[in-house]
Amino acid sequence: MAESISVPKSDVRRDIYNSIIPQIEALVSAETDLIANLSNIVAVLKEAFGFFWVGFYLKKENQLVLGPFQGPVACTRIDFDKGVCGHCYTTCKTIIVPDVELFPGHIACSSLSRSEIVVPGFNSAGEVIFLIDVDSDHVADFSDDDAEGLEQIAQIVQKLMSRN
Ligand code: SME
Repeated sequence: MAESISVPKSDVRRDIYNSIIPQIEALVSAETDLIANLSNIVAVLKEAFGFFWVGFYLKKENQLVLGPFQGPVACTRIDFDKGVCGHCYTTCKTIIVPDVELFPGHIACSSLSRSEIVVPGFNSAGEVIFLIDVDSDHVADFSDDDAEGLEQIAQIVQKLMSRN
């Protein structure tokens, strides 16, 4: 297993996603433990982009429950109809919030969070079973490049979860 990853020195996030996605696939391929793999995935994202907060929420019974993450302490449980995460869960679509203060119902886990992207992950029946949530301390920090890159990473996680 690789013990370190290589991140290109680029300001172009698409280039960084293109570099880290195959490395994430290699990193998780030999490990069967889901929590270990999710932990390494958020570590790669933190190292590659320096995100303020990046982590997983996992659907457990009737709530979204905090999974592996990097960043400040966060809310442990989110109802399906609450916040940006709840919006992503109920619409089953990636959501980019350029200014969290303008999003009604945004859950402020940290007062420093300014913008956010949440990407859904699905089971084979098409139900949302996890979310990848990324927060930035800058307004309008996320673009379609992040949506595309994080959706590709969500697909890697979907494969991991289907084999567990
Ligand atoms: N802001 C999210 C809550 C999770 S934290 O950002 C880590 C929301 O409104 O759903």
